[in-house]
Amino acid sequence: MRILVALDGSQGSRKALRFALKLAKDSGYSISLLHVVPKLPTTKEEVIRLIKEEIGSPEEAGKRYLEEAKIIAEEEGMQVREVILKEGSPVDEILKVEKDYDLVVVGSRGMGRVDRFLLGSVSSKLVVASSKPVLVVR
Ligand SMILES: Nc1ncnc2c1ncn2[C@@H]1O[C@H](COP(=O)(O)OP(=O)(O)O)[C@@H](O)[C@H]1O
Ligand SMILES: [Mg+2]
Repeated sequence: MRILVALDGSQGSRKALRFALKLAKDSGYSISLLHVVPKLPTTKEEVIRLIKEEIGSPEEAGKRYLEEAKIIAEEEGMQVREVILKEGSPVDEILKVEKDYDLVVVGSRGMGRVDRFLLGSVSSKLVVASSKPVLVVR
């Protein structure tokens, strides 16, 4: 069985990764990592973060999120099966990539404003539109 973890560099997605790693360890499932570089529009929060952290471009930031996640997995003794970087609409790209997987793991929240919704826009759309089981980690 294959687990796909969708990462956006947020605390929420890091939590999702931690949970997925535990699940994979106990079950023997494999772990793959996906980040989608949002083509446009990028949220104000995301732009502020890019400037603050002096990350050049959204692509570079995305590569870094994936690299960090891979290191976390390896520290937990897990080999990552696949590391995938896409560009476009996060929901659309996740829906395409998930076809090759058995379970999609996301955080309940992402980079968006904390005070706005209980469930993020990407995670809530995935829960509705996905043809695969989606695990939303709180
Ligand atoms: N660009 C992205 N690439 C991959 N996964 C993403 C992306 N954006 C969001 N996700 C996944 O969806 C989860 C929820 O994020 P999101 O729905 O965007 O919340 P918010 O509305 O707070 O930004 C994240 O924790 C992450 O797992
Ligand atoms: Mg978001």
